[in-house]
Amino acid sequence: METGFRLSLNRLRNKPLFSKAPAAKKTEQLFLAPEFSEDVLKAVRLISTCMHLKANDKSRLVWQSECNATSFVEYDALLPLFSKMKKPKKILEIGAGLGRSAVVFSKKQVWEADASIHLYDTNGSSTKYKQKHYDRPPKWPDVSSFCGNLELLDRILKYNELANYKIFDAAQIELKTLPGPYDIIYGFYSIGFHWSLEHYLDDIDPLMGPETVLICTLNKHFEPFKRLENYSARVLEAAGTKKGARPLSYLALSKSALPEVGLSVGEAYPG
Ligand SMILES: C[S@@+](CC[C@H](N)C(=O)[O-])C[C@H]1O[C@@H](n2cnc3c(N)ncnc32)[C@H](O)[C@@H]1O
Repeated sequence: METGFRLSLNRLRNKPLFSKAPAAKKTEQLFLAPEFSEDVLKAVRLISTCMHLKANDKSRLVWQSECNATSFVEYDALLPLFSKMKKPKKILEIGAGLGRSAVVFSKKQVWEADASIHLYDTNGSSTKYKQKHYDRPPKWPDVSSFCGNLELLDRILKYNELANYKIFDAAQIELKTLPGPYDIIYGFYSIGFHWSLEHYLDDIDPLMGPETVLICTLNKHFEPFKRLENYSARVLEAAGTKKGARPLSYLALSKSALPEVGLSVGEAYPG
């Protein structure tokens, strides 16, 4: 299960994603990992494939710290945008994995306290992370790229006392038929990262109202594509990237003008 991307969560090997990422132990522990029983560990290993984790409390804390550190990198990078947006009330996370960002963003009040949070993922044990899948991801109802665990996702969200959430099973429900429109739709290390966003826009566009903001982590090989011109787009970069490396970036899209935070696509990807 090799990703091919150095910055992938799956290459963490118990090291922080960013050279200057806050030392994991110093990061606020908003996301709480449950006891690392064998079944929890099995599901975590599918999401964080290269972390060397065991069924013990030390590994639980390592994974918990990494989930929080990664979520804070995302939060910090996106804060300029969040602070200029109306607080979302209806949220969709695509490829939620085990729920770390939904928990951290809820606790950081990225959205209203009574917001309705929809999470879209399904059970699976295979990943399609190799670069050859980036431009040819499997198309629904083929869910062979999914490696989630919906029962554990639900358990972890409850463990973290997340309220008003609903999990949608991607094996049963096609993305474009979800009950949109949403105020914010996002996916980290999922659509747009392992698989080009271009292949999901037909499904996501119907879920976007005039002011919806769509956010995803970008693959370091990302190249702007024609259809992006239909949207207002900004690129936000994570701080603390290794010297000389391309910063980990997030793409924000909307049908309305986005605040001028971060960079335009042309500035971020000249030529
Ligand atoms: C590397 S994990 C990331 C999980 C979570 N977003 C995180 O950052 O911790 C990728 C997630 O995307 C899900 N996934 C796989 N194929 C997908 C697809 N076609 N659409 C949406 N999500 C997908 C997987 O099941 C998995 O939960």
